[in-house]
Amino acid sequence: MSEKVKVTIDGITIDVEAGTTILTAARQIGGDIVPPAMCYYSKLQGSGGKCRTCLVKVSKGSEKDPRPMPKLVASCRTTVMDGMEVQNITSPEVIEARKGVVEMLLINHPLDCPVCDQAGECHLQDLSYEHGSEATRYEFERRTFDRIDIGDKVQLHMTRCILCYRCVYTADQITENRVHGVLGRGDAAEISTYIEKAIENEFSGNVIDVCPVGALTDKTFRFKNRVWFTKPVDAHRDCPTCSGKVTLWYKGEDVIRVTARKDEYGEVEEFICNTCRFDKKKTDDWVIEGPRKIANHSVISANHYEQLMPPPVLRTNPALREANKEQFERTTKL
Ligand code: SF4
Ligand code: FES
Repeated sequence: MSEKVKVTIDGITIDVEAGTTILTAARQIGGDIVPPAMCYYSKLQGSGGKCRTCLVKVSKGSEKDPRPMPKLVASCRTTVMDGMEVQNITSPEVIEARKGVVEMLLINHPLDCPVCDQAGECHLQDLSYEHGSEATRYEFERRTFDRIDIGDKVQLHMTRCILCYRCVYTADQITENRVHGVLGRGDAAEISTYIEKAIENEFSGNVIDVCPVGALTDKTFRFKNRVWFTKPVDAHRDCPTCSGKVTLWYKGEDVIRVTARKDEYGEVEEFICNTCRFDKKKTDDWVIEGPRKIANHSVISANHYEQLMPPPVLRTNPALREANKEQFERTTKL
């Protein structure tokens, strides 16, 4: 049996396998203490370390060396040590830093939410609501790009890209030949023009699912509906290429979109092929399993009232109780 180490995150202690990252340990605890992650994707090797939204404070390095780490660290890339103590939502410094990261990401990301198909499923939209400031301090010209047509299935809006590299890793790891990547560096960095070639691959549609923002969206679903007006349903089919396990998104009786099934962190459970995604849009093509459970913080589950389940640290810490007073009161009324 592999060695276990003890880590405490926001006052909650858990034993995890040695070599686990702080982010994965936090996900094992679950709830509000889990740091947001815009570039890390557990199914993609090498992902993480790009966006800095998952920053946390290590207030105690380990049992052997209890000194705190001098700077905030990316939780998706930092492994836990035995006796480590980490602060996420209990650290004002982390909340302030995350606000800075969101401001930085929004410098070049247009607030297109009213016309963007990703609205309601966009991690940057959620972060902006939670941490964004209402005004920008940036006065210089924004990045602009020549429009690139990447085929009839996937829509690329380069201005919305936050350079998380997830689509690059997806093309690299689940398609045969990666033919796109990030060209240029710094302000000039962009998803390269070669992306149109990636679209010929049978698994290329997965770049839509991994993109945390609306830079890569489904052209066959474009402007068809706001996602919170649709009804997600789990379904499967006997597919020779992939697992055939998908979520169908209904508008009335029509399937208007097919996606892979995503977990509570917005990561796909299994990648699906383009035939399932783009060509099977009739109910007859599928065996329906039942309604998809949607995370209760998502706008898609609006009107589905569920009890607030605060992590123990919120209930026992008077300062945090006070900070979340409004939420507690709302729950009592429901
Ligand atoms: S297009 Fe989307 S998935 Fe690809 S790097 Fe940009 S934000 Fe990430
Ligand atoms: S999720 Fe950790 S740096 Fe992006």
